[in-house]
Amino acid sequence: MPAMSMLPPIPETLRGAYDPERFRTEGHRLIDALADHLARATARDEAPVLPWVEPARAVEQWPAAYAEDGSGDLVGELERAVAGAIRLHHPRYLGHQVPPPMPGAALADLVAALLNNGMAVYEMGPTAVPAEVAVVRWMAERLGMPATAGGILTSGGSLGNLTALLAARQARAGFDAWTAGDHAGPPLAVLCSAQAHYSVSRAIRMMGWGDGGAIAVPDDDAYRLDATQLGAALEAARARGINVIGVVASAGSTGTGAFDPLDAIADFCEAQQLWLHVDGAHGASAALSKTHAHLVKGIDRADSVTWDAHKMMAMPALITGVVFKDGRRSYEAFAQEASYLYAAGRGEGALEWFNPGLRTLECTKRMMSTIVDAALRALGVQTFRDYVDRTFALGKALAAKIDDALDFELITPPAANIVCWRWRPAGAPPPGPALDDLQATVRRRVLERGRFYILQTRLATGVVLRSALMNPLTEDVDLDGLLVEIRSQGADLVRS
Ligand SMILES: Cc1ncc(COP(=O)(O)O)c(C=O)c1O
Repeated sequence: MPAMSMLPPIPETLRGAYDPERFRTEGHRLIDALADHLARATARDEAPVLPWVEPARAVEQWPAAYAEDGSGDLVGELERAVAGAIRLHHPRYLGHQVPPPMPGAALADLVAALLNNGMAVYEMGPTAVPAEVAVVRWMAERLGMPATAGGILTSGGSLGNLTALLAARQARAGFDAWTAGDHAGPPLAVLCSAQAHYSVSRAIRMMGWGDGGAIAVPDDDAYRLDATQLGAALEAARARGINVIGVVASAGSTGTGAFDPLDAIADFCEAQQLWLHVDGAHGASAALSKTHAHLVKGIDRADSVTWDAHKMMAMPALITGVVFKDGRRSYEAFAQEASYLYAAGRGEGALEWFNPGLRTLECTKRMMSTIVDAALRALGVQTFRDYVDRTFALGKALAAKIDDALDFELITPPAANIVCWRWRPAGAPPPGPALDDLQATVRRRVLERGRFYILQTRLATGVVLRSALMNPLTEDVDLDGLLVEIRSQGADLVRS
């Protein structure tokens, strides 16, 4: 006779939550609702790109009160989240460097969420691990790196930059900072452009190098790191007893999309035996384009590259490649032992290439490789090349319209799909705080009206309007409409 079970019955709540038929029904309804959402956005319906609600009021609309019973309507709740969301698939979304993800990749993301293969170790990611190896290899080849290249996928460009800089420190500090701590040697620093993304200085501070750990090298008049200034910056730092271990170059930069001169910087790094990290979070995808690959010429000489697939490969966030020219370096970023996960631990075990958790901050990691791998296989590389070419062409088209218009000022010709400009109609104040206020006020009105979504940022010239052209379905009519919108929203602010 079987032993009496001590186990209470499975609660109905849990049976319901895991019911495959409920999943099927809700899934069909949800996909229909999302397809309608996509169709409305791409058809430029009259609903706003961003249905603006003041933050405090938005919080009131989402009370922290959840029912005890499970009678809620999942699809209805999600439809509410969709209805109030900013619509990246609307062709008049001209905002941050966050793309409208290719819908097929969102389906792959659903698979990743449902399977939840945590993939710190191969056993927990028997398809995600080989997919990650394939995606990283593919990225390394696109960058022109040798067969010895390797790396990992991680959750975002910020974490990618930190990961690369941790490896750079191990390789070039001249002592084992991971084990002994940074205080065991002279103060460490990297040189980078004043335009470097803030995640670089954040990573430096997290590593304990403080304020002086990211030494800004002046940029040129196209907002690129001025490579002729590297020598003086290095000398000055060394004279202060600082151990400069590398240079961080941007390809392209966040503010204006400028690509630093990688070949010249690589020459300098090679001569000075410095690590070269290229923050290609936004622009490494230019390597896919036959027309724009020249922007990243020299990237193959980098020791490490950060490449966000959730930017210029139009994948859902977050999916970042950290590619090392010498793949073994990627084991040095996080060199500690976790013997319960990795049988052999450090040393021999560190070459357990099939256990990605050895080399990332994440232990449990989302199946991000599955998403890119499936998208690349199903859509083909040409789709991604077209995405880069189309969005870069949009950047140039918007810049040309701004340049042609007498009441607009283009700040700098865009290298890629990030454009910065100012509205300077007759009667507008000269550059200074009042012109800054004009840009900010017009931008705020455009935002609140919701027909377009654009940004503002501050450059050396002052406050400027800024757009990343991330939606490949944006057309001339949208770009023309933006200029009309700015003029009409600002009309009462200037006396002509
Ligand atoms: C050049 C650059 N590096 C790094 C990042 C940070 O990437 P993530 O938002 O994926 O952390 C960004 C984000 O905009 C960026 O533009």
